[in-house]
Amino acid sequence: MPNDTINTIMTRYTCRSFTDRIPSDDDLQIIAKAAIAAPSGMNRQLWRVIVVKNRALIDEMETEGMKVLQTMADKAIYERIMSRGGKLFYNAPCVIVVPIAKTEPAGAELFDCGILSENIALAATSLGIDSCICGLMAFSFAGDKGAEFKSKLGFPEGYEIGIGVLLGYATEQGKPHELDMDKLSFIE
Ligand SMILES: Cc1cc2nc3c(=O)[nH]c(=O)nc-3n(C[C@H](O)[C@H](O)[C@H](O)COP(=O)(O)O)c2cc1C
Repeated sequence: MPNDTINTIMTRYTCRSFTDRIPSDDDLQIIAKAAIAAPSGMNRQLWRVIVVKNRALIDEMETEGMKVLQTMADKAIYERIMSRGGKLFYNAPCVIVVPIAKTEPAGAELFDCGILSENIALAATSLGIDSCICGLMAFSFAGDKGAEFKSKLGFPEGYEIGIGVLLGYATEQGKPHELDMDKLSFIE
């Protein structure tokens, strides 16, 4: 690889099986700072970055997310997670919750969330920490316990769950996805 940055981008992959080992506080500080170094539209930074290591709370959020998925009319996502072992958070010992405020034009905040979560994933990879960007974490907030979780995590008024990122160490090292070169065009 031409340099460490490109190497980090090319070696990141989604981890779906974590050991119990928790990343160090020093590493989590670096990752959290990398998150908020992300660019945002008009530099609005309408986000929060909440690093959670509390196992009981993580388990509670996971259980609630699975409950919500199970009660949905379309069971496709629930069955997909069940086929992967039934764990929405794959035993991750640390989760980063990213609340975000709505913007105008509607939906623009999702770009900010996406970029921020990739900063987290890349910073983690560079430190030897595995990650999974977890859009499905939204379901933990979609049921009866949504308000309780928002309060426990300290969401500011008007903020909703944007994205989650799971962090930890893989039980078995995975591989990045194959690059589909057909998606690339170069026009001269
Ligand atoms: C916005 C976003 C949300 C995602 N949500 C989930 C999720 O909830 N659960 C999961 O297992 N993977 C999730 N992923 C991971 C993707 O499935 C993964 O990036 C994709 O399969 C490509 O694999 P790779 O990351 O190993 O290259 C998400 C990825 C993105 C970018």
